Amino acid sequence: MKIKTAELTISAARVDQFPSNPAPEIALSGRSNVGKSSFINTLLARKGLARTSQRPGKTQTLNYYWLNERFHFVDVPGYGYAKVSKSERESWGKVMETYFQSREQLKAVVQLIDARHKPSEDDMMMYDWLKYHELPVIVVATKVDKVPKNKWGSHTKRIKEDLQMEESDPLILFSSETAQGKDKAWSAIQSALFE
Ligand code: GTP
Ligand code: MG
Repeated sequence: MKIKTAELTISAARVDQFPSNPAPEIALSGRSNVGKSSFINTLLARKGLARTSQRPGKTQTLNYYWLNERFHFVDVPGYGYAKVSKSERESWGKVMETYFQSREQLKAVVQLIDARHKPSEDDMMMYDWLKYHELPVIVVATKVDKVPKNKWGSHTKRIKEDLQMEESDPLILFSSETAQGKDKAWSAIQSALFE
């Protein structure tokens, strides 16, 4: 897809700040530092629109990107970030829970997993939880530029098995460094948004 207009419209810290716009949206989920913001920048071909960081937990609000005046991407705070206080973590948790449970505009969740490692307990819980809420999930195994090509098959198999992925959910090997998987990611996202 060609992105003609991209704009950060709101960083929502609370449920009452979610846009009332009925346009469809896709959320990005994954542990802190996995590469969610980099994924957004790569898909939109805009460096620096979504802020990236070597310091985990930088994204602490639901960041709404309004694209081609037609749909939203929502960058969600990374899970598994230990360095925030318990009460902060609980209040984010509630915002996220409300979001995933009841957001009508949400068509699918892109769940990012680090292609180098076995999925974490948090990754497995998150996938389970999204499936419990009957959300379609597009699993993106990112940082694949750091995995030798002869391991791609075994890592793919391990992710599918560990998450107990549904057949209908796609798994895409991706890299923000090389843009590998960009077209596949777009086509999965487009089907979820508009079909
Ligand atoms: P939070 O906002 O903290 O939850 O992190 P995030 O998931 O948005 O991660 P972010 O995109 O900020 O990336 C974290 C780090 O990983 C940065 O140093 C990126 O440059 C790096 N990174 C992201 N994607 C890739 C990739 O595909 N390959 C490689 N080699 N590095 C990546
Ligand atoms: Mg981020």
